[in-house]
Formats: sequence, structure tokens, C-alpha cells
Amino acid sequence: MTKKFYRADKGKGMKIEERLDRLMKLREQARLGGGKDRIAAQHKKGRKTARERLELLLDEGSFEEIDVFKAHRCNRFGMEKKINPGDGVVSGHGTINGRIVFVYAQDFTVNGGSLSETNAEKICKIMDMAIKNGAPVIGLVDSGGARIQEGIESLAGYSNIFFRNVMASGVIPQISVIMGPCAGGAVYSPALTDFSIMVRENSYMFLTGPKVVKSVTHENVSEEDLGGAAMHASKSGVIHYGADSEEDAIMYIKALISFLPQNNAESPPVLMTDDPVDRAEEQLNQLIPNNTMMAYDIKDVIHLTADNGDFHEVQPEFAGNVVVGFARYGGMPVGIVANQPKVLAGVLDCNASVKAARFIRFCDCFNVPIVSLVDVPGFLPGTAQEYAGVIRHGAKLMYAYAEATVPKITIVTRKNYGGAYCVMSSKHLRGDMNYAWPTAEIAVMGAKGASEILYGREAKKSNDPAKFVQDKEQEYIDTFLTPYQAAERGYVDDIIEPKTTRLRIIKALGLLKNKKDSNPLKKHGNIPL
Ligand code: HXC
Repeated sequence: MTKKFYRADKGKGMKIEERLDRLMKLREQARLGGGKDRIAAQHKKGRKTARERLELLLDEGSFEEIDVFKAHRCNRFGMEKKINPGDGVVSGHGTINGRIVFVYAQDFTVNGGSLSETNAEKICKIMDMAIKNGAPVIGLVDSGGARIQEGIESLAGYSNIFFRNVMASGVIPQISVIMGPCAGGAVYSPALTDFSIMVRENSYMFLTGPKVVKSVTHENVSEEDLGGAAMHASKSGVIHYGADSEEDAIMYIKALISFLPQNNAESPPVLMTDDPVDRAEEQLNQLIPNNTMMAYDIKDVIHLTADNGDFHEVQPEFAGNVVVGFARYGGMPVGIVANQPKVLAGVLDCNASVKAARFIRFCDCFNVPIVSLVDVPGFLPGTAQEYAGVIRHGAKLMYAYAEATVPKITIVTRKNYGGAYCVMSSKHLRGDMNYAWPTAEIAVMGAKGASEILYGREAKKSNDPAKFVQDKEQEYIDTFLTPYQAAERGYVDDIIEPKTTRLRIIKALGLLKNKKDSNPLKKHGNIPL
């Protein structure tokens, strides 16, 4: 590293060849970041460099770098001797499958990818351009955090990024991938973006590291257990995907981007499909077990109905009792929200409510229609849930469905009880097309509970209380545990043969293509956070 990374101009006497040579050399210097040794050290950790990552992410030859020569201005703690062109972040734009994206990748080989004032200015410039030009922004994070030698300037830089994350929210899709360290307040940028991805066993994300944790709470915890991908993907729900490798993380982003519009004024991209629109799936007619207490996999419904069975799941390891992700029907992207009978019987709890609510709000921001597959016995009872605020979290899900104005298609496959009936994209929350399979049970509650409440006292007086309740249970099942009462009221638009589900979804999407709906004028609502 030199005091200045460029030589003073020789002035008028300098030939064009010399000038070009100098330019090439400076570019080469920038390309090497912190130098060969630090690149080797990065590789030794099983990590790629910022430029290698961008090469993998973007279409070949599409990357145009911006601010290659931008340098920091700090002259404290010897920093005047540590100046690199680009200053620890590589930023610019390129394309993914021909569509423009703005990108930045922190370069750990330069001052540990730490965030300086000028480094933050580069990121902010990219974000401003992305907002102005209506294209997604993708950040690849690998940084020691605030540039310690700069102090408050670095913190100001972070704050400027966070502010832009908030301004860009709902305007352009924002994606973060954590490919190395991400600690302290730096975590708030990924947390503010729409999707965050981490690379397993080679990245971590926490507010305070193990040493601080030890001194404050006396806990002994490793970096991986405190803030590794496995923990965030399954426990905290902070991230949306734990990737097995950097390549896997990048594949995930590319697939994700393929479902999304460039910005909130566009529709999501429709692709040609060779999967027949009217493909009927006999298996769907047999999917629901005769015993309604038995589980089945709701993902079978998704795989059997979506184009070519493709489903891009979001947060697959977190709150598995609700499944969310993207698929296409007749080439049209949709967001799927599905209760999962295989996990906790598909019950809604705090985590499932928040997971689904955030996903629904993303879809609504970006004009992605929502298909809800409903098989839900209700909200999870118990002190653990009540103490954790299941009312507040369930209300978020209610709020998200109610405010969403994108096309909303609902298919009730089986249980749809109580408060969960109201929440899960019901007609009353502006569900556009609500269908039920003949196996649907749309009621206030399950038969056993209902009969015990209604007939418990009478049963005790009868000769055979168990039989008495059983008979009443059957009466309740015949009366309410069907889709017909809801259909009589128009709360479901039709009762459909399960095998025709794909066709019905595609037809509904076509019907709702030009749907217009809005909410009362307001600054913003007050979702129960
Ligand atoms: C300046 C930094 C730096 C930082 C690393 N480096 N972090 N320089 N500011 N924050 C430099 C190192 O001095 C070193 O420079 C090079 O990057 C590589 O770092 P190493 O320590 O050699 O690498 P490694 O062993 O892999 O350890 C990586 C690390 C460690 C775990 C990230 O560097 C570390 O603990 N850094 C500090 C993390 C931290 O506390 N950051 C502040 C968090 S608070 P040389 O020249 O020797 O190669 C924060 C507040 C944000 O970020 C608030 C926002 C609102």
C-alpha cells in the first residue's frame, strides 16, 4: 500500500500510451484488492473474493464497476499509509439473466472489508441509483464492521445505508448475502432488506460477539452457535436461507430474482411454460387421508399444481408449520402461503404468523399475487404462546392479508377453524377467489371440542356419557365439518375437484390480472409490531 495509490500527473507532456498504461495498472491494483497474500488468506478460509463473487452472480461480462478509484480520507492511526483504490467495497451494476441489478460486495482483503465513510458513500451511491432506476440491489457482506480508525464517520456511513434500506423498502427488491463476518450494528442493513441469505459454517451475524456475551451474561458460546447460518435459519428467523456454499447462495439469489419484478411499479416477469394449463392430477383427489387427524404434506399440493412442480421455498427451516415461497402457474409468478399439516398439524403460532405476514407484505409491495393453501386447526394454545404474544403476532398476519391488494386466491384443502379461518385469506379480508375442496371443514372449531362444550353437562346426566358425546360429535361433523355452510353463504366461491386445482388457480390469475383495489388514504398503517 502506498500513501497515494496514483502517481502525480506529469502534466501536458504525458503521452496517451502512458496515460492508458497508468489506467490499466491502477485498475489491476484495484482488482487485487488487499494483495495476493490477503487473497490467498481469504481462499484459505474457503471464501471467495468480492470480485470472484460478483463474477459468479452476474451475467458474464455484464459487470460495470463504479467508483473503482474512490479512496478513504482518514489520516489517523496510520491510515494515510493504507490506501487502496476502491477502499474495501466493489460496487456497480450488471445483469442477471439479462435484467439489471445494482450490486456491492465488501472486500475483506482491504482493511477487513470494514466500513469507512467513503466506503459507505459508494454503497449509498449504488442504492440511490437502484432506487432512481428501479432495479433490485444486492449486497454481499463480508466485513469487520465499522472502520475502527474512523470512529463516528463510519457510524454515520452505516446510518446513511440504513436510511436508504428503509427508503428503498417496498420500492425495489433488496437482497443481502452474508459471506463472512457481519457484527455489531452492521447487522441492521441485512435485517432491513427483503431477503437475507447466509453461507453455512463460514459466516456469522450477531450484535455482540462471544467475548462480550461471556463478559455480560457469563455464557460460553461459539460464533457458530451464537450467530451462524444454522441458528439464524432455524431459530431466530433472521435469515431466509442457509446456503451450503457461496455458489449455492448465489444460485438461490438468481432463482429468487427470476420471480420478482424490477420495482414496485412493474409486474413480476411472466415466463413461457410447456406445462399444460389444464393438467389434472388424479393424486390430488386421493391426497387427504380419510382420518382427518392424519397428516399429509402440503408441499405435494404445491409440487403437483405449480408449473413443472417447481417451488422456490423461503425460510424452509423456520416455522415449518407454515410454508412460504414462490412458484409459477401458467408462467405467472405467485407467492404461496400454505399451512403444513405435517408440522404441528399446521397450527398457527407466533413464528408462523410473523413468517407468513412478512412474506405476504413483500408480495403485496411487489405485485406478486398470493395463493393460500389452507389446512389449519387454529392458533396454538398454551402459556408459552400467550406469553410470547401470539395475539399480537397473529394480528400481524391478519393485518398483512387484510391490507394486501394483490390478487388473492385461497384454496381450503381441509381444516379451516375459528380465528384461523378469518385470518387465512378469507373472503372477509378481501380474498378474491376462495375455493374449497370437498374435504374442507370450515367451522368454528373441531367436532370433539365443540360437542364437549355444547353437550358436556347433558352427557354427564345420560346413561352412557361417552356415547352421548360421540353421537353429538357426529351430528356436528355432518352439519359443520364440510365446505357447504360456507358455500351457502358465498364465503367460498366454489367447491372444486382437487385434481382441477392447477387449472382453477391459473384461470383465477388470468381473471384477476387487471384487478384494481386500494386502501383508504393514509400516511401508513400501524401494524401491531
Ligand atoms: C478496521 C479492521 C476491522 C475494523 C478488521 N480489520 N476489522 N480494520 N476496522 N473494524 C482489519 C484488521 O486490522 C486486519 O488488518 C484485517 O482487517 C483482517 O483482520 P484480521 O483480524 O486479521 O482477520 P480475522 O482474523 O479473519 O478476523 C476477522 C474479524 C476481526 C473477526 C472480523 O478482524 C475483528 O474482530 N474485527 C473487529 C470487529 C469489530 O469489533 N468491529 C466493530 C464492530 S462494531 P491488517 O492490515 O492487519 O491485515 C460496529 C458498529 C457498527 O461495527 C454500528 C453501526 C450502527
